[in-house]
Amino acid sequence: MTAPRSRRAKPNAAKSGAAKSSAAKTSPAGEPRSSATPPPFNPARALSVRVLVSVLAGESYAASALDQALTRANLPGRDAGLCTHLVYGTLRYAPLLEAALAPLLRGETPLKARALLLTGAFEKLVLGTPLHAVVNEYVNLAKTGFGPPALVNAVLRRVEIPASLPPEDTLPVWLAEQYRAAYGERAAAVLKDLLEPQPLWLRLTPAGRESLLAEGSELGAAYGDVVRVQLDRPLRGTDAFEQGWAQPINPASFACVRALGDVDGARVLDLAGGAGIKAAMLAASGARVLSVDRATNKHHAARENLERLGLEAQFFSADLTKVPALPPADFVLLDAPCTGSGTLRSHPEIKLRLTPDVVQEAAALQAQMLETAAVLTAPGGLLVYSVCSVTQAEGPEVVQQFLNANPEFQPEALPDLLVEAVSSGPGVLTVPLEGVDGFFIARLRRQVAE
Ligand SMILES: C[S@@+](CC[C@H](N)C(=O)[O-])C[C@H]1O[C@@H](n2cnc3c(N)ncnc32)[C@H](O)[C@@H]1O
Repeated sequence: MTAPRSRRAKPNAAKSGAAKSSAAKTSPAGEPRSSATPPPFNPARALSVRVLVSVLAGESYAASALDQALTRANLPGRDAGLCTHLVYGTLRYAPLLEAALAPLLRGETPLKARALLLTGAFEKLVLGTPLHAVVNEYVNLAKTGFGPPALVNAVLRRVEIPASLPPEDTLPVWLAEQYRAAYGERAAAVLKDLLEPQPLWLRLTPAGRESLLAEGSELGAAYGDVVRVQLDRPLRGTDAFEQGWAQPINPASFACVRALGDVDGARVLDLAGGAGIKAAMLAASGARVLSVDRATNKHHAARENLERLGLEAQFFSADLTKVPALPPADFVLLDAPCTGSGTLRSHPEIKLRLTPDVVQEAAALQAQMLETAAVLTAPGGLLVYSVCSVTQAEGPEVVQQFLNANPEFQPEALPDLLVEAVSSGPGVLTVPLEGVDGFFIARLRRQVAE
């Protein structure tokens, strides 16, 4: 194995979306402290370990737990960046770190101590934080109730990455195999890349670009108007966001919208529309969008976001395992609920929770919803099916089974998606390198009956 490269933490306050500039003193839990005595460790580390405890317990997702914790703790921007880096990095490397810690631990390690040891091991083995600093910080943290300080001291001094572990040891074997089946000889590069921090992508109007540059943000690679951005402040504090000139979206997610082709002036059904990110991008392309989801609360979020962007869409609540009473449309997008296995850079906890059974359950739901989407596609119309998953069951297999049972639908070549994609049965899989997510996308045409 190539041992993970030693890297320094690159605090990225912008990514947390919650970093503030106040330098309020905080307790280990990140709560305001009454005493002026600073804790004998960085509060960012305490907060990271607490967030990891709740994520590893399966109680929350990293993004929401971190966002809430950072908002409450009000850490200085630099510390908020460190906290974000520690949470995501520890989760990305967790299987490898567990393997490194296992020979040094006997019996079941209580969750709090496990979270602390994983974070300390991540700092030592991946970030290359000096050993004396790692031991000092995490032993002091352990003394506040995270675990036996003597054990933490001994384990963090001795832990080493086993010499022969390949990067895919940060994925369960069955999931690494799914990646290999999807990407063949590119799989090794993809698995390695999934360990990198997730960059921020924004769909920007020309005014948004100018405004971000003027504020001091850096713009990088771009797929059309979806641009990789290094912000100089939290996103919500930028003028571009406030003015509705910027929308966070991964280039692969935007590719699902591109797969429909030209929708200017067309009526489009956005099925499983959720919080309306794709609905917004469709509306920005001139479509008249009806977004359908069973979660009414997501419609509220979607409406607010569209208003910010100066765009409009209609909303309808329905369980799409049954056919709702809606007229068919010429353009239908089904962005189906899925396991999210193509988004491991931004949701690394998924790989710790996902099982083959969960994949099969997702595929069964997707198959039902695809049948509904077919009924809602007018003869001659286009149906795009997408999932942010790279498993065979949720992508090519669901669509191939659907095509076998519905010969009036034919797969069509996709238009230029701008992102790199490999062919996968009746569709394509975007290649999750350099911050792009892995999406399966298929474009199906309903034939006109003779
Ligand atoms: C991948 S998310 C959609 C993301 C959305 N298209 C976007 O771009 O913002 C899948 C959505 O499917 C919805 N969903 C899950 N089961 C459903 C069902 N039986 N009927 C309708 N919607 C469902 C969830 O509420 C969730 O919003």
